[in-house]
Amino acid sequence: MNTWDQRFSRSSAYLYGEQPNQWIASALPELPKGAKVLALADGEGRNSVWLAEQGYDVVNIDYSQVGLEKAQHLAQRRGVAIQTEYADLIAYPLPVAHFDAVVCSFFHLPSQYHALVWQKVIDAIKPNGYLLVQVFSHDQLPLNSGGPKDPDLLYRLEDWQNMLCSMQNQVLQQCQTQLDEGSLHQGVANVINIKSVKQEWCDNEH
Ligand SMILES: C[S@@+](CC[C@H](N)C(=O)[O-])C[C@H]1O[C@@H](n2cnc3c(N)ncnc32)[C@H](O)[C@@H]1O
Repeated sequence: MNTWDQRFSRSSAYLYGEQPNQWIASALPELPKGAKVLALADGEGRNSVWLAEQGYDVVNIDYSQVGLEKAQHLAQRRGVAIQTEYADLIAYPLPVAHFDAVVCSFFHLPSQYHALVWQKVIDAIKPNGYLLVQVFSHDQLPLNSGGPKDPDLLYRLEDWQNMLCSMQNQVLQQCQTQLDEGSLHQGVANVINIKSVKQEWCDNEH
């Protein structure tokens, strides 16, 4: 059992709530029914289930087996189907140019893996597909509204500017927001919001 399995198994409650992350729900444009959407590191599945309710074909890839089981329970309870895949996203080879959108809230991993993992994620998006992300920025460290306490797991805007240089960035901003997501994300928080579109000419050749 990894740390996330332990956290998610402490209670039957959903630690980040059962509603989607507000940035994702408000910024994701309407996609055609059946669009393929990757809910990246979506743990207990709050974004995945909301995406399935919009009529999309959703896969939640995460390395918490307990989180993925809770995600399937939530989907069943809400009467939708989602796919769940157990994988460590650092090592996992995502399919190339496969998803119409990738959405992600609060996936924090050691900074040495940021460029590697996010490049794979960008490569996995189809031309004209979307990337929607909300993560904690470095300024979140002194606040107690959620997020890791190891600064190496937090993000800087400059890192994203580099990592997203091949994308058309409609929103790439560091800002304060009011979180009200389950028991672990409550209060004013410093986040980075991203809404990017994969450029048509970006042909995944590196
Ligand atoms: C803070 S939780 C956020 C869960 C979900 N995105 C949400 O906002 O409700 C972080 C999630 O990232 C997952 N995670 C962290 N590192 C991972 C990795 N290397 N591979 C796959 N999943 C990972 C954890 O299992 C956990 O579900």
